[in-house]
Amino acid sequence: MGILEKFEQFEGEGAGRYDRAVSKLSSLLYWHAIRDLKKLGVNGRYLEAGCGPGILAVRVARELGVEVVAFDLSVSMVEIARKRARDAGVNVRFMVGDVENDYFGEFDVVYSTFSLHHWNNPEKGLKNLWRMVKSGGVLYILDARKERFIGHGLSFDKFRSLFEGLENAEKIEVRKRFPLMASAVAVKGV
Ligand SMILES: C[S@@+](CC[C@H](N)C(=O)[O-])C[C@H]1O[C@@H](n2cnc3c(N)ncnc32)[C@H](O)[C@@H]1O
Repeated sequence: MGILEKFEQFEGEGAGRYDRAVSKLSSLLYWHAIRDLKKLGVNGRYLEAGCGPGILAVRVARELGVEVVAFDLSVSMVEIARKRARDAGVNVRFMVGDVENDYFGEFDVVYSTFSLHHWNNPEKGLKNLWRMVKSGGVLYILDARKERFIGHGLSFDKFRSLFEGLENAEKIEVRKRFPLMASAVAVKGV
């Protein structure tokens, strides 16, 4: 098993391994996400999809002062995330769920980081997340970007194309982000 494959095992021991590695890199990994989400300036209820060990969800709840609900397919990740929130004294509701099928209600902001390229069917996952964005609300995705000889995740063109089919999107902004990341912001029409 290669280093990256080992790093991307999300159940059992793999979840703990991911948590320890990402905890060390979190300021770099979540730099864009925290800044972008703050810049949106949206209050209310946030939903995080594929939240892993909950590092970002806890930061978003604390730093943006918003209500956060977060879910992940991996039971082990959700257990780590619940403990993190408890230890930090931050109120985030973590649940096990599948981005492609589960419905958690409507939110002002639905966001996800470094998870989309793991979904079996990213089109279906995005469509499902989009139905949980309130009218006038925002969908925000940050993911790894694959370039020709380097990188991990989807190519920028593939990533961008996923957002073309969102129904009733008022504004869509897809950008390359440094280093080897891509982000998308889509605002739902009222
Ligand atoms: C690379 S980790 C990213 C975790 C976290 N968002 C972060 O930024 O560190 C990818 C996560 O996506 C989750 N995931 C993969 N497929 C999923 C799905 N269909 N529904 C929900 N979560 C999923 C995995 O269990 C894993 O925790």
